[in-house]
Amino acid sequence: MTAISRISNPVSVTDSHRPHLVLVGLPGAGKSTIGRAVAERLSRTFLDFDKEIERRQGKTIVEIFGEKGEAHFRELERGLTEELRLSGNMILAPGGGWITKPDVVALLRPPARLIYLRLRPETALKRLGAERSTRPLLMRPDPLGELRRLLGERKAAYESADHVIEVELIGAEEVIKKVVSLALAPR
Ligand code: S3P
Repeated sequence: MTAISRISNPVSVTDSHRPHLVLVGLPGAGKSTIGRAVAERLSRTFLDFDKEIERRQGKTIVEIFGEKGEAHFRELERGLTEELRLSGNMILAPGGGWITKPDVVALLRPPARLIYLRLRPETALKRLGAERSTRPLLMRPDPLGELRRLLGERKAAYESADHVIEVELIGAEEVIKKVVSLALAPR
């Protein structure tokens, strides 16, 4: 039994011969919502990294950051990413900071394809709303400043995705359709 078969609620079996699709972008970009919907429509397995890490640790992301720090959390992301090399064909939604470790990204890509859900920090913050309290990096006095800083640091990495979808002005349904069509398009 591979580690992947322990992931909760698989929509379908994974297929190691087909690449994963990875949604990247700032917190609030909609990676989990869009990813889950896309996976359902394509009958593929969806994995939300943060939820899986919380499930395995029996702790929230806030607790993990608080007790062991960000570096430890990044190692948990790395471990999960390593396991995902054994499978394929999944829709993956890692946390917004996963992109900051090129060696971790390189564990999956190639062959995985990355889709950047791009939006402004102002919009990301608005969309997060009360959920901001579950994001340790945004629990600081100036969350907008923090999101701007994170985007500044990560912009080049996000932009290096295989596809960019501007999610600023379009609704979730349109984003889902765009991701589905990219997922079905030949490379
Ligand atoms: C983080 C984003 C979060 C979560 C953690 C760190 C980041 O995920 O992984 O709070 O560094 O941007 P979301 O992008 O799903 O909010």
